[in-house]
Amino acid sequence: MPTKTSKPGEAAIEVLSVASEVYPLIKTGGLADVVGALPGALRRLNVNMRVLVPGYRQVIAKIAKPVVLKEMASLFGGPARLLDATVSGLDLIVVDAPHLYDRDGSIYASPSGADWTDNWKRFGAFSQVAGQIGRGLIDGYSPAIIHAHDWQAGLVPAYLRFGPPTKVKSVMTVHNLAFQGQFPREIFGELQLPAAANSVDGVEYYGAVGYLKAGLQCADAITTVSPTYASEIRTPEFGMGLEGLLNSRTSDVYGILNGIDLEAWDPGTDTALVEPYRISTVRRRAANKRAVRERFGLEHSDAPLFGVVSRLTWQKGIDILANVLDRLVGMGAQLCVLGSGDGGIEDAIANAAGRHPGRIGIVRGYDEQLSHMIQGGADAILIPSRFEPCGLTQLIGLRYGCVPVVTRTGGLADTVVDANEAALSMGAATGVQISPLNENTLTEALRRAIALYRDEAVWAHIQRRGMKSDVGWDQSARKYVALYEKLMGRAVSNGD
Ligand code: ADP
Ligand code: GLC
Repeated sequence: MPTKTSKPGEAAIEVLSVASEVYPLIKTGGLADVVGALPGALRRLNVNMRVLVPGYRQVIAKIAKPVVLKEMASLFGGPARLLDATVSGLDLIVVDAPHLYDRDGSIYASPSGADWTDNWKRFGAFSQVAGQIGRGLIDGYSPAIIHAHDWQAGLVPAYLRFGPPTKVKSVMTVHNLAFQGQFPREIFGELQLPAAANSVDGVEYYGAVGYLKAGLQCADAITTVSPTYASEIRTPEFGMGLEGLLNSRTSDVYGILNGIDLEAWDPGTDTALVEPYRISTVRRRAANKRAVRERFGLEHSDAPLFGVVSRLTWQKGIDILANVLDRLVGMGAQLCVLGSGDGGIEDAIANAAGRHPGRIGIVRGYDEQLSHMIQGGADAILIPSRFEPCGLTQLIGLRYGCVPVVTRTGGLADTVVDANEAALSMGAATGVQISPLNENTLTEALRRAIALYRDEAVWAHIQRRGMKSDVGWDQSARKYVALYEKLMGRAVSNGD
């Protein structure tokens, strides 16, 4: 796609980003990182992005001095307020609706782990507010674009489409097609959408109501978070039933790669590391490796250390990894795992750690600091995903000289160059790819990574090449700007 930065004097583009998570306020995965990083990356390109986020208890607790923008007598069964707040440089609009968001438990599920039964209402209301803001609910604010993320904001394009005409354009970004937000047809009457929206052109999806489906159907443009995933989701294997719809909109689908925040993820200044380092001082990682081993109870030896920082789920292929851990140890390697998720998968890794004390360690849970330590100390980051829309941990790994070992799928395929002979001889290799993913190919990839690690000069080259990779937001931010301009009918200049 052609890209451009705005001309001097041209008015800034006003964009409202609508998402259920935003770092550093509330995060369960990469969605939050992306939503938190985009406004800063776009600001440099003359785009003002405000972020609309639900006022979960965790969010309200972190906003100081909110200004009330709007009082609403009733939002899906209770009073609500829109609050204006700035946190970590982010310009937020928070939907403060205690009956929907002020709860114990996680943002999507009750303390027992079951999805909140009224999630349809929590995110339906959220999306309706976004649509109303597009139609002037907040005095003096009129975004040109509303950029909705994932199923929780999936109804936003539907609220814009099925209502009084508006010039506001909508972008629907898919971070993960596996989560679609499907609810029984009976809820339709509560959504305050016109009857016409209850059709295949709107929210109707196989007799039910599909939030992500509605977004994909009604948005002016669809983006997903890597070019390869943008192609994959048009196939039955990855399309999760939505491939037909996506194929009917091919010319509106864009794959725009995620980046990472290069300041938040900088091994040269990272305070979570025992020993910060740069490309020229990459050997200093040894001190971080020692620290990681101590934290995970692993032996100090010349073994390569693989790390995992992940949701421990089927998507991430961690069950397959769990089945090859005896082989990993048999090849002389070590593994440290940070994460939580599927109980059975967590237990399988914990059992392997029990069988191989000093060789495999697991810390269950979510730990931001420790995730930095692993990236700064492990030799390789292991990401054997079954599918991966983009993936951020391999980008962090590249930047930290923690060589990514990844499945050749989605964003992993787009960002990691396999150390095959050709790539090695050209000096282009940055990691190891597994394809297709199964226990044998994963074992083979581990064997290859270990052999590369044993050749110090080659490994150092792969590490340094990765550290030089462009994993920031600049290029992709330009692509978003070009898309916004195209939707607004502004001239878009050439130059990728
Ligand atoms: P996904 O969003 O599918 O979980 P991504 O790779 O896009 O995967 O993003 C995951 C983000 O969450 C990264 O920032 C990663 O560092 C972080 N993360 C995942 N698991 C943990 C954990 N257990 N502790 C700390 N950070 C984690
Ligand atoms: C989703 C995907 C992940 C992607 C992230 C941010 O959680 O699983 O691949 O990096 O969203 O876009």
